[in-house]
Amino acid sequence: MTIILHPNPVEALLPSAALPSIDLDSQKQLHAALEYIRAICVPHVPGTSCIVIRGKKTWLGSTGNDASIDLDTFERLYLVRWLTKLLRSEFEELAEEASKLLAIMSGSSGAGILTRQYAMGVTIRDVALDNTDFSSMGCQTWGGSCVLAQMMIDHGDEFFPGGSKKLHVLELGAGTGLVSLTAAKVLSSMRSPAEITATDYHDTVLENLQYNVSLNAAGSAVNIQYLDWSTFSPPSADVSPEMDLEGRYDVILGTDICYSPPHVPWVYNTIHRLLGLNAIFHLLVPLRRGLEGDSARSVEDVFNMRGAGRALEVKHKESVIGGGAGENGSDEVEYAYYRIGWV
Ligand SMILES: C[S@@+](CC[C@H](N)C(=O)[O-])C[C@H]1O[C@@H](n2cnc3c(N)ncnc32)[C@H](O)[C@@H]1O
Repeated sequence: MTIILHPNPVEALLPSAALPSIDLDSQKQLHAALEYIRAICVPHVPGTSCIVIRGKKTWLGSTGNDASIDLDTFERLYLVRWLTKLLRSEFEELAEEASKLLAIMSGSSGAGILTRQYAMGVTIRDVALDNTDFSSMGCQTWGGSCVLAQMMIDHGDEFFPGGSKKLHVLELGAGTGLVSLTAAKVLSSMRSPAEITATDYHDTVLENLQYNVSLNAAGSAVNIQYLDWSTFSPPSADVSPEMDLEGRYDVILGTDICYSPPHVPWVYNTIHRLLGLNAIFHLLVPLRRGLEGDSARSVEDVFNMRGAGRALEVKHKESVIGGGAGENGSDEVEYAYYRIGWV
């Protein structure tokens, strides 16, 4: 039995129609059924059921992401009963997988580890958040990285100049690494030589990032480095423009890295030090309602200020919408996308 999931998750087969009988079917059929359940039950990253970039709607399901679907009470119960029956069956390996899927259905933190497939075949593992350590938030993939990944796929030439010169790309606060690994895929499809450095500052996040890089063939173009934005000092006036040319990255990427007020000046200092002369910093900021401070306004104020040393400026701003495919659009998130460069 082959179960075919429609790229648009809304049209995927429901469990009551798709699942085989456990008594009569072979292990191979049960394996296929478990794969199907994994595809419909692993939740999509919140706010990314579909993404609207410049009026074009992309269903992430159509580009290889998970195809999770909303199940009504009957279908959920049917699925839980089917998995419980498998759990009690003589097929040990399948029973173990059934128990993991039951955990996923009871909430992703209970499931611990979730592995998803994204566009261009990038595979990313999220690990459970440590509830006692909020700073491990980079162990999960955030909607902004799915949005920026899709933008790079759709408009690769606006991110990467191409040509035969080796591009040096840096990602700040890389988390699970989706953006860097997608950048590696896009650059390879453009036949553009590149070295990508994915950075973060948290031990557990860096460990998971390393694992994700090793999971993907494209990871061979991605290095991992510890980098803490808070350690960069503000640009100083006593450095003449000729001396202040430490920047060596042609492209810098960052998604959801300005979620607390001190982050914006820290990221500014880091960019001021590391951005190459004709380079661009691509920054995606979710416009979360009700959070302390207004991160978008703060980004614009800080990056447009004229202080000591060379000046940076926001060269382009655009709005991107993620999610909202559900009935009431409740998971919709608006993002501000910035291109920042030297004046
Ligand atoms: C909300 S998560 C976003 C992760 C990833 N960019 C994404 O969109 O999925 C913020 C990331 O910034 C990292 N981070 C927070 N403060 C940092 C700092 N001072 N220096 C470097 N990374 C930091 C966190 O470890 C985490 O990976």
